[in-house]
Amino acid sequence: DFSWTLPDHPKLPKGKPVAVVVLDGWGEADADQYNCIHVAETPTMDSLKKGAPEKWKLVKAHGTAVGLPSDDDMGNSEVGHNALGAGRIFAQGAKLVDTALASGKIFEGEGFKYIKESFDQGTLHLIGLLSDGGVHSRLDQLQLLLNGASANGAKKIRVHILTDGRDVLDGTSVGFVETLENDLSQLRAKGIDACIASGGGRMYVTMDRYENDWDVVKRGWDAQVLGEAPHKFQNAVEAVKTLRSETKANDQYLPPFVIVDDSDKAVGPIVDGDAVVTFNFRADRMVMIAKALEYEDFDKFDRVRVPKIRYAGMLQYDGELKLPSHYLVSPPEIERTSGEYLVKNGIRTFACSETVKFGHVTFFWNGNRSGYFDETKEEYVEIPSDSGITFNVKPKMKALEIAEKARDAILSGKFDQVRVNLPNGDMVGHTGDIEATVVACKAADEAVKMILDAIEQVGGIYLVTADHGNAEDMVKRNKSGQPQLDKKGEIQILTSHTLQPVPVAIGGPGLHSGVRFRNDVQTPGLANVAATVMNLHGFEAPADYEPTLIEVVDK
Ligand code: 3PG
Ligand code: CO
Repeated sequence: DFSWTLPDHPKLPKGKPVAVVVLDGWGEADADQYNCIHVAETPTMDSLKKGAPEKWKLVKAHGTAVGLPSDDDMGNSEVGHNALGAGRIFAQGAKLVDTALASGKIFEGEGFKYIKESFDQGTLHLIGLLSDGGVHSRLDQLQLLLNGASANGAKKIRVHILTDGRDVLDGTSVGFVETLENDLSQLRAKGIDACIASGGGRMYVTMDRYENDWDVVKRGWDAQVLGEAPHKFQNAVEAVKTLRSETKANDQYLPPFVIVDDSDKAVGPIVDGDAVVTFNFRADRMVMIAKALEYEDFDKFDRVRVPKIRYAGMLQYDGELKLPSHYLVSPPEIERTSGEYLVKNGIRTFACSETVKFGHVTFFWNGNRSGYFDETKEEYVEIPSDSGITFNVKPKMKALEIAEKARDAILSGKFDQVRVNLPNGDMVGHTGDIEATVVACKAADEAVKMILDAIEQVGGIYLVTADHGNAEDMVKRNKSGQPQLDKKGEIQILTSHTLQPVPVAIGGPGLHSGVRFRNDVQTPGLANVAATVMNLHGFEAPADYEPTLIEVVDK
């Protein structure tokens, strides 16, 4: 008896335009010099916070509240937007992979059987992010995969590493490579020909997203598949150390390198008959390489040589494109998202961000599904991001342009929901540049103002929130919350996300005067936002959604 029709909300009217604003990487933390949101001039967000206490609330944006394995896991945009859009908490990739590895089921699944066919004659290549960040991948999962693959017949293994420094501290790449080298030498002691074959920094090699810059993927392809790179080393630890010091690149931006043997030959190009696994579980930064590895027709760059391989993703990365077609672990089945419900109930929807976050308010919001539900009712606008720069150079990014598009969409009267992501706090926060992050936060705040002003003009409603923390804390802290100093007595800049809660603020002239945040929702989190938004559109949420954050008192 399933029905897409949402019941009417008993008290809240329909027809008010609703702006849903997601400030990326905007958490709530104590005020100090490393809290860029506090340092920045942010009058709009400040006024929401200082306004009516029943219209501003903090919710959980990390750990189990967003389907991650534990509450030690910081939030991230994938799980955050999934929760915001889907209104329920799904066990996410990180956890699904943990479970499949712990039970060993991963090695009995269709995906593994498929790649295993190549183990007799071919090499197994593992490509992915090497860190314990837990946002895109995890080192311990790679280790279990290496052991399991060898136990299941892989005789020759090549690992193509991408160094992190974005979900973990910069400089930690060296330690991760040392650990991996140690693991691989243990495999070699067991007679398995296993070693690192290539590498590069995640932001410069392979892990681009939303087709911002195909050159990034090409650099990876050249190193991983063709065995060609500007830098050659015989040893990966030496490669990372040398490139960090000689090219002054940080972990995120390490140039590509290949590992060569005594005769200067790459030790692990990908060739016909090989198997390839991309071991990241998170989708956005794997979609492009998956296309390059899987598609026969491909025109994004010249692949030069296209090996006939058996390729599997750790997960399937795009449910709509069914990409890749083989995968080791089934992704969370995020169905019946709020976006789909609302569109099917007549809500005309506009979504916008700039390229680097565009998929967050579309693809992630809609449960890792690309495309429209109903083209006649939806418009998704992508503003091209600056490419080839680190965002501390242009910390305002496209916040103003996004806000202008949102404003125009609101004023046009053509949409019931206008949804945006403002990337600044996150993208600039990841660079670790504190001054630039302060500028970024101010720009995001100004964008919020423009959107709220438009909502004011049309008598609409706003809900302003964030997907996880980042800019509110830029320093690594010890257990008592003080900056933790390194061996040299210096603070360590935190480029990653945080465990902090995020705000949810509601308001606007269209908001029924009796609406206020409830106090009886147990551990409110991002997944409670979807039901809230449905209410603001005049609907009750489906019964299995996490409860709404609001109630309506008679006034
Ligand atoms: C990234 O992919 O840029 C980071 O690992 C996570 O950032 P996001 O979750 O905010 O996209
Ligand atoms: Co981020």
